[in-house]
Amino acid sequence: MNNIPFDSLTIASKTMSAEAAAALIPAGARVGMSGFTGAGYPKVVPQALADRMQLLHAAGEDFRVGLWTGASTAAELDGALAKADGVSMRLPYQSDPTVRKQINAGQMQYTDIHLSHVAQLAWFGFLGNLDVAVVEVAGVTPDGHLIPSTSIGNNKTWLQLADKIILEINTLQNPGLEGMHDIYYGTRIPPLRKPIPLVHPGDRIGQPYLECDWDKVVAVVYTHQPDRNSAFAAPDENSQRIAGHIIDFLSNEVKLGHLPKELLPLQSGVGNIANAVLSGLNEGPFENMTSFTEVLQDGMLSMIKSGKLAMASATALSFSPDALKEFNDNIDFYSKRIVLRPQEVSNHPELVRRLGVIAMNAMIEADIYGNVNSTHIMGTSVMNGIGGSGDFARNAYLSFFMTPSTAKDGAISCIVPMVSHTDHTEHDVEIIVTEQGLADLRGLSPTQRARLIIEKCAHPDFRPALRDYFERSLASKCGKHTPHILTEALSWHIRFVETGSMLAPKVLQDQPLSEPAQDQLMA
Ligand code: COA
Repeated sequence: MNNIPFDSLTIASKTMSAEAAAALIPAGARVGMSGFTGAGYPKVVPQALADRMQLLHAAGEDFRVGLWTGASTAAELDGALAKADGVSMRLPYQSDPTVRKQINAGQMQYTDIHLSHVAQLAWFGFLGNLDVAVVEVAGVTPDGHLIPSTSIGNNKTWLQLADKIILEINTLQNPGLEGMHDIYYGTRIPPLRKPIPLVHPGDRIGQPYLECDWDKVVAVVYTHQPDRNSAFAAPDENSQRIAGHIIDFLSNEVKLGHLPKELLPLQSGVGNIANAVLSGLNEGPFENMTSFTEVLQDGMLSMIKSGKLAMASATALSFSPDALKEFNDNIDFYSKRIVLRPQEVSNHPELVRRLGVIAMNAMIEADIYGNVNSTHIMGTSVMNGIGGSGDFARNAYLSFFMTPSTAKDGAISCIVPMVSHTDHTEHDVEIIVTEQGLADLRGLSPTQRARLIIEKCAHPDFRPALRDYFERSLASKCGKHTPHILTEALSWHIRFVETGSMLAPKVLQDQPLSEPAQDQLMA
């Protein structure tokens, strides 16, 4: 705990308006803000900073900052600063439409980083000096410790590393959040690093509060505003089918003795498919499950309510308005079953591997050999970022990647000859699932994987063309380990860019499987 003298006057003497606080952020600063998946981000200082930037831009002055966060934030932060053309460099993850547009137009630099890596990169000094931290908290204890808000993300690191600290105390956040957090201060950089002593998702290895050096606090701003609280679409038919395939697969793994009957800790990515899988698990046969994940969405909250999920570990709470009401109304019940941690712990590869996490993440496309693209559209435009998917996928006990088999009303096949960008290599991807079926790739060679992915996961409109590509690749003079026709490998993407569809002008007729392909599939 800190030794800085603190009393109630300390806060009062530093309290000011958002505008006055924003005026303390200099042009060109690197600013570490709180926020993870639309939760626990500062609500008013970024907006005031954006207003100031716009005024200065109108007067002909250049004013932009480098913006670091936990992960994605919301319109009041990412959106406001991007609209003010105020961000020169963004890291480590975003999902804001204006930010995305500026990145893809080459107007904003973006460093897309594994979320577990961010804190250590900052500590190593690889990201440069952190000038200012702007962190939302739910309150301050009488001795000056900070009660974290609905996300922790990189706040511990930002508060420790920044030269100056601006705090937003959000009085709308539920006071019952106090005690739900577990801030571990034992991480060190090599060669001083020690094992993280966590062996169960519910273990508490740290303290409930963030430490704060009040000498560095230059402003305290009070707010009373909600998080983003986006609603989820009801699971569509494709998501339900994907969920069904995963639940059947997991049931079978239990029967085979590969998994205990309560499964292993679950990690679930962001978005509607992930939420549908969790709804499926809530109605499925498994009891007494746990999760070790980065974000808790509605699906996991329902599983805690029903008693199916006994304990959940995450770094952020990202709920729809209905789920948020349920959480706030019953916070005493939920706070005993949820632990929020810094993202360097919630996503730590050491812990993911030790706990044997079942990782389930959405993707943009996979290729016939099992390489996965989670981040890029047609190889060049970023969608969101890798987020925590790589932290979990590479180190998981089971690593699922899920997508509908087609996108854009059937014009795009999400199973392609070669991915246009690789986030997760064939070595990190074990199970691919679409609404068409599930391909269990464990232990298979590239050619065995290709046959299975094409037959189980590709959409029937694209399956014949994929078979044709694979068989011609295999018959060509290229290497037979991972056969490709390099001049054609990305032709589907090129065709989409040129014509608006990946479908060949004359779609190949569905043909029965060749005998060797059938043999492989039955093996
Ligand atoms: N080619 C081109 N566009 C595609 C596509 C493909 N193969 N597959 C999907 N898309 C488009 C969709 O049409 C949609 O476009 P729109 O916004 O214009 O409607 C968009 O990509 C998002 O697709 P959607 O089906 O709505 O997926 P989603 O909301 O489930 O998001 C990811 C999927 C992959 C973008 C998202 O999960 C992500 O950002 N993942 C990376 C980070 C991550 O995994 N985090 C969790 C780790 S804990």
